[in-house]
Amino acid sequence: MRGFICGLTAACTAAVAAAFIAGASAQNSIASEETAESLPDFKGREETFGYCIGCHSFKVVGRQGMDRARWDDTLNWMTEKHGMPPPDTETRKLLLDYLVQAYPPGSATGTGGWVNPFAPK
Ligand code: HEC
Repeated sequence: MRGFICGLTAACTAAVAAAFIAGASAQNSIASEETAESLPDFKGREETFGYCIGCHSFKVVGRQGMDRARWDDTLNWMTEKHGMPPPDTETRKLLLDYLVQAYPPGSATGTGGWVNPFAPK
């Protein structure tokens, strides 16, 4: 174990998010209102939200815009470096399908009405 297993508690999410964004622009109410419904609506949204939110705010994910290969690399990175449970083939496809549709290259400032509150001004 790596001592970095987060449950789905808001406190944990907030703590990790705060640690992660510290120095950037962390504010008080990180992740307080986050729900899957606040994300762009594509197939796999709930699953992706549930998979990623265990460790950090989805804002960390949503401020990226990448192609499939780079999202794929990101999943590897989460798995290898941060101890994310490796998704099985089917889940991985679902996650990637969602990420690429919701956060394609060039969408780093957000899509589907999602406005990133941490975007640099
Ligand atoms: C087991 C914990 C864990 C899980 C689960 C997890 N991550 Fe992460 N993720 C982290 C940590 C820790 C960081 C910040 C550390 C860093 O930047 O090195 C991070 C950072 C990120 C970043 C920010 C990269 C950047 O350059 O700012 C992205 C994008 C990301 N994760 C995507 C995902 C996606 C997509 C999922 C779900 C499929 C996910 N993560 C699930 C631990 C996790």
